[in-house]
Amino acid sequence: MSKDNIETSKGIILAGGSGTRLNPITFASCKQLLPVYDKPMIYYPISTLMLAGIREIMIITTPHDMEQFQRLLGDGSQFGVHFEYRQQPSPDGLAQAFLIAEDWIDDSSCALALGDNLIFSDQLGGLLRKAAKQHEGATVFAYQVRDPERYGVVSFNDSGRALEIVEKPQDPKSNWAVTGLYFYDKNVTKLAKKVKPSARGELEITDLNQMYLDSELLHVERLGAGCAWLDAGTPDSLMQAGNFVQTIQSRQGMLVGSPEEVAFRMGYINETQLLKQVNKVKKTELGRMLSSLVKHQ
Ligand code: TTP
Repeated sequence: MSKDNIETSKGIILAGGSGTRLNPITFASCKQLLPVYDKPMIYYPISTLMLAGIREIMIITTPHDMEQFQRLLGDGSQFGVHFEYRQQPSPDGLAQAFLIAEDWIDDSSCALALGDNLIFSDQLGGLLRKAAKQHEGATVFAYQVRDPERYGVVSFNDSGRALEIVEKPQDPKSNWAVTGLYFYDKNVTKLAKKVKPSARGELEITDLNQMYLDSELLHVERLGAGCAWLDAGTPDSLMQAGNFVQTIQSRQGMLVGSPEEVAFRMGYINETQLLKQVNKVKKTELGRMLSSLVKHQ
């Protein structure tokens, strides 16, 4: 393996949290296992990391939900990747992921994807692989939203340089929200240890991003209109996400958020391995779309 691959090979999916905005659905079910149209929600961030070229993936979830994720996803070999599982005892913030995974990350760079976020664009692969290959600093993605006060908000100066990121501001300086997909260099754990709990008691990812920004090491990639970013954490956004995936898949015949498809296209699995996966979902439209990949190559 080349040095490039070693340095860019890890990614974390945060799939814990409380899911209170989806109560009562999440009283008994874990949010990231809920369906987004025809797949479990976590398939979408898994596909995103795989598209970035990341094949070593740690799934961090609650002690209560871990077994279900293991049952769904196994060791990852069916997708040509490797899944590692760890527990977060309580939802103490996104930046805690790097403390939980410290020994596993070791000296690698590491991406973080939120388990309830979907990013879709036909140009995404190139952007993600560029971010994953960066050896120094961090890359985050910004997306224009109508309700920036719900997110980390990044403001820019006249020449387009990022100036500041503020978590859930009451009076947002821009409508550019930071999406739930972050790429960090190998210093991430060292910096995450410096993050102090916020007023709401969480280790905020925004504080970590601000540290990179203060050192002029934060690259903010603005996602344009050809890209969709959805977080599926509320009844409305969960439904919107499902409708979005259904529309693209049924109208354009393009799969969204299929780890099997990404694995096959990226060369992580071969035709025989793909067909084994198809066989598991053979009664579904997803199975039909996956099998057509073999015919159309
Ligand atoms: P959020 O949606 O911000 O939080 P939540 O899932 O607890 O939901 P709610 O606000 O409705 O109570 O979290 C974003 C993602 O990160 C989601 O996939 C859950 C995950 N998460 C963790 O795994 N650990 C944490 O400590 C936090 C805060 C979130």
